[in-house]
Amino acid sequence: MFRRPLLGLAAAAVLAAPAMAQAPAFPTRPITIIVPFAAGGPTDTVTRLVAEAMGRDIGQPVVVENVGGAGGTLGAARVAAARPDGYTLLLHHIGMGTTPSLYRRLPYDAVNGFEPIGLVTEVPMTIVATNRFPATTLAEAIAVIRRDRDKINLANAGIGAASHLCGLLFQTAIGAPMTTVPYRGTGPAMTDLISGTVDLMCDQTTNTTEQIRGNTIKALAVTTAEPLAALPNVPTAIAGGLPGFEITVWHGLYAPRSTPRPIVDRLSLSLQKALSEERLVARFAELGTSPVAANRATPDYHRTFWAADIAKWRPIIAAAGAYAD
Ligand code: MLT
Repeated sequence: MFRRPLLGLAAAAVLAAPAMAQAPAFPTRPITIIVPFAAGGPTDTVTRLVAEAMGRDIGQPVVVENVGGAGGTLGAARVAAARPDGYTLLLHHIGMGTTPSLYRRLPYDAVNGFEPIGLVTEVPMTIVATNRFPATTLAEAIAVIRRDRDKINLANAGIGAASHLCGLLFQTAIGAPMTTVPYRGTGPAMTDLISGTVDLMCDQTTNTTEQIRGNTIKALAVTTAEPLAALPNVPTAIAGGLPGFEITVWHGLYAPRSTPRPIVDRLSLSLQKALSEERLVARFAELGTSPVAANRATPDYHRTFWAADIAKWRPIIAAAGAYAD
C-alpha cells in the first residue's frame, strides 16, 4: 500500500528516475491505452481511473480502447504491433505472466514484445455466486458443487485470464471440475451471473464489490489472508476451508518494444503521479484495492517482477499441461 504527500512524491520521482534524459516534446497528441478485455470489467475499471489521472498530469487526453478476446492476447497483440512512440499502451494483468507459457503459437513475442512502464495495483479476488445458488457459505457451496458438479457452471474471461486461473485453482482445491463458460471479459460475465445464466465466478474485487454491496450477487469468499475493509462481512477462502487459498491479481502498464527510454520514463513518472492522486486512491479503496508504491511503478522494478512471474508460472503450466493452443 502506498500513501505519500506530493512533496514526498517529488522526492520519489527523483529517486525513481534519476538518469532520465529529456523526452523530446512528448506527448503532443492523445495517448491510447488498450484494455485486452471487454468494457465494464475489472481491468477496464482500473484502466479508466488511471487514464483519467494520467491525462490530468501529462497534458494530453489519455483514452481507453477495449480489445477483448482470447484471454487477453488479442489486445496484447495490438500493442506489440503498434508504433513504439509512446502513444499506444497496454494495461494488462497477471495474464502477462501466464501467457508466455499457456500460449505456444502467438503472433507476437509475449516475453520481449513490450517495454514495462510500471506496476499499477494488486487486486484481491472473490468467489461469487448468483443469488439463486443454493448455498450461503463457501463450505455449503463446495458441498453443492461436489454433489451436482455436472449441473453447475463457472464463468471466466478465457484461458489465461485471472478469472480462469482462480477458477482452475478453486476446482483443483475442491477436487471438483465444473463446466466453464468463457466470455470476452468478466464485465459481460457479471451480467449473466446477476441474471442467473451462470452460477459461479472467481473475479476481482474491482468488478464484484459494488454488486456484492448491492446484493445483486452472493459473496462466498475473498482470496486474501485477512478480510477486506471494503467487504468486512465476507470471510476469507482460508477461513471457509481452503488452506493457503490466497490470490491477488497484479496489473502493469506497457509500451511496445523499442519505445525510447525517455518516453517510457516520462510515462512512468505520470503513472506514479496518477497512483498518488487522492481521488484515485479513495476510489481504489472503495473497490477493495490500492495502488502500488512509487518505487514499484517504475520500468526496472516492473521488468524484474514480470520476468520472475513468467518464471514462476512456466513449471506450473508445464506440469498441468494446460496449454491454450
Ligand atoms: C476483465 O477485465 O474482464 C478481467 O480482468 C478478466 C479476467 O482476467 O478475469
